[in-house]
Amino acid sequence: MRILVITGAGVSAESGIPTFRGTDGYWRNLDPTKLATPEAFARDPSLVWDWYRERRQRIRKAQPNPAHQAIAKLALHTEGFLLLTQNVDDLHLRAGLPAEKMVQIHGDIFMTRCSRCDFQRYELEHEHEYEKQHENGDLPKCPECSALMRPGVVWFGEQLDLANIGTVENFVTSSDCDLVIVAGTTALFGYVIDWALRARGQAGQLIEVNPEETSLSQFATRSLREPAGAALPRLVNELLGNFSA
Ligand code: OAD
Repeated sequence: MRILVITGAGVSAESGIPTFRGTDGYWRNLDPTKLATPEAFARDPSLVWDWYRERRQRIRKAQPNPAHQAIAKLALHTEGFLLLTQNVDDLHLRAGLPAEKMVQIHGDIFMTRCSRCDFQRYELEHEHEYEKQHENGDLPKCPECSALMRPGVVWFGEQLDLANIGTVENFVTSSDCDLVIVAGTTALFGYVIDWALRARGQAGQLIEVNPEETSLSQFATRSLREPAGAALPRLVNELLGNFSA
């Protein structure tokens, strides 16, 4: 069996992380064009850092939910498996999904990188240093070149990481998937739709897990209009039962 799973913010919603476009979504409460662009960072880095700091704290306190656990279980029982997540949180990893079977296409919120040179560091390891700096009102500076550090996520108008694109392309082109599962995303980005459709080829199934219809719904061979935390554990048990039959 060869399976591609694509996830978005809806999969972390039941862990208490607001989605982007839901009623409690970040995008509703705060204008993303003011926050998630290189221009916004150049204009007001402090505001942008405050926003990411709040999100990091919320994610650190959150726990993986049954949807994350079900996807990790499927990954561990499937040889040809890739998770393509748009989520920048670490809940898939904390649920036990092997890092080599996952691509975070929009980056990792705990990564901090220099806005000028190649320096980057994983923030969980430098937590206290960073928090202290921030409490003093200082913005993190690069130890190599003194430019401002920035969150290691992909902002609007920025290129996706080439290595990540390569991993997804390799998986999608090396052979068709028997199954593509798309869960908890509005699937607004063309590359997400493109990868989902190319991966399943002519004969593969496309299962969408989302309480709402999306632009991908018309291509789904099966739609589970339920929260991911309820639908995915059931679906994964069904799939693993079929594998062993
Ligand atoms: P959105 O906020 O656009 O969409 C969340 C989706 O999850 C919606 O389709 C909801 O119907 C669905 N949903 C909500 N609760 C759910 C649940 N419990 N179970 C299953 N589905 C549920 O989030 P994304 O599609 O992930 O990009 O957004 C994609 C990208 O847009 C983000 O990665 C971010 C943003 O701009 C960047 O920052 C580059």
